[in-house]
Amino acid sequence: MTRRLVVTGTDTGIGKTVFSAALADALGGAFYWKPVQSGLEGETDSETVQRLGRIPPARIVPEAYRLRTPASPHLAASIDGFRIEAEALVPPVTEGPLIIEGAGGLLVPLAAETVLADVFARWKIPVVLCARTGLGTINHTLLSLEALRARSIPVFGVAFIGEMQADTESIIAKMGRVRLLGRLPKLDPLTPDLLRQVFRENFDIGLFLKELA
Ligand SMILES: Nc1ncnc2c1ncn2[C@@H]1O[C@H](COP(=O)(O)OP(=O)(O)OP(=O)(O)O)[C@@H](O)[C@H]1O
Ligand SMILES: [Mg+2]
Repeated sequence: MTRRLVVTGTDTGIGKTVFSAALADALGGAFYWKPVQSGLEGETDSETVQRLGRIPPARIVPEAYRLRTPASPHLAASIDGFRIEAEALVPPVTEGPLIIEGAGGLLVPLAAETVLADVFARWKIPVVLCARTGLGTINHTLLSLEALRARSIPVFGVAFIGEMQADTESIIAKMGRVRLLGRLPKLDPLTPDLLRQVFRENFDIGLFLKELA
């Protein structure tokens, strides 16, 4: 059976797509799926993963929903004149490990009565929570962990994005009773080569491979 991981974050713009690209690249042969894409101007998340992770188009699963407006999915869908059928969102079967990227954070509404975390709860797929290392992250990370656990969603671990904040990381591990997977620094320039190298230095790929075997 194909194993899967969901990549979520404490907020929008955290670095989920960059992390997903690096992880998909490191795993080798991995597939990527962004079920709900809000905003189609510029590069979509699927296109970014293709470019930054050097993932061939055949391993990028088409989005279930492509919404034109860069807004919360429930609003973006209603502007486009339809409703998201959250119950119909089912992860595809792929011939290799599948990385699924959420939209924004966990309590983002897909429709009037459904948030993204409700879909993750139905899937029961382990989740990587991406968190910034900057100010405010302890609160956002612990809140997100509570939201995951309130729905019995398995938590694979927390991945930090940003500069080193040792105390922040250790308090989150302790109070959140969660495994820390590593930290991806902000890269400049953000290139496929540098991302590959830094991800390998900062994360235990074997741990992911074991989960996704
Ligand atoms: N490790 C990194 N190094 C350099 N830039 C980064 C890194 N991670 C993220 N960024 C930049 O930060 C911005 C937001 O990152 P990203 O698109 O990955 O966030 P996201 O959590 O996927 O957002 P969304 O909720 O829209 O899916 C992008 O411009 C991205 O290039
Ligand atoms: Mg993204």
